[in-house]
Amino acid sequence: MSAPRINPSILAADFVNMQAELGRISGADFVHVDVMDNHFVPNLTFGPQMVERVQATSPVPLDVHLMIDDPDRWAPGYAELGAASVTFHLEAAAEPVALARRLRQIGARAGVAIKPGTSEEPLLELLHEFDQILVMTVEPGFGGQSFMPETMPKLARLADAARRVDSAVWLQVDGGIARGTIEQAASAGADTFVAGSAVFGAEDPDAAIAGLRAQAAGAMAHRH
Ligand code: DX5
Ligand code: ZN
Repeated sequence: MSAPRINPSILAADFVNMQAELGRISGADFVHVDVMDNHFVPNLTFGPQMVERVQATSPVPLDVHLMIDDPDRWAPGYAELGAASVTFHLEAAAEPVALARRLRQIGARAGVAIKPGTSEEPLLELLHEFDQILVMTVEPGFGGQSFMPETMPKLARLADAARRVDSAVWLQVDGGIARGTIEQAASAGADTFVAGSAVFGAEDPDAAIAGLRAQAAGAMAHRH
């Protein structure tokens, strides 16, 4: 079993002090970067220019989460910037498998995300096409929302399917992940945890990362 990965989301960081904020999460596994286009979700963040600067500034590799329409057109550009992983939404992609193959070809880990209301079913037979699957644990668009436990059965079914075919796919959760919820997600099968407010809202973000990692590791060790 791999160690849990903790990916702080800079959506919860101070945007005008991003360099200093990045310096407070040196213990992170990946920096989670939420790109929103105000169409796929009702919020707007930033695009490739910002991602390029974060990439150049951060010693920690980037995990880009695209909450945008038409990822078939835009996602490859983020991989070309050097992001370690690029995750697009299944709901928005016209050709998800072709897009994932393209991302891998460029050299990024290929990720696919599903919203709380989207079934995991079509992904069960496609695990080999992706390096990571993101099960959203809130409606995408905003930080600071409450974790939705009703998404856990989807995660458990993906984890079961991955175990059956001995898949190396990473299972990621994003939204409301904190001290009170991370164990639930780890028990259900997650191995990669995005946390925004729980990390940047803490006095010491690196200590918060370590605390979350220890909690997740404990729950993962008890998984059957
Ligand atoms: C929500 C974003 C998340 C968000 C999580 O649409 O995808 O990455 O930053 O924030 P918290 O951890 O505060 O729920
Ligand atoms: Zn995200």
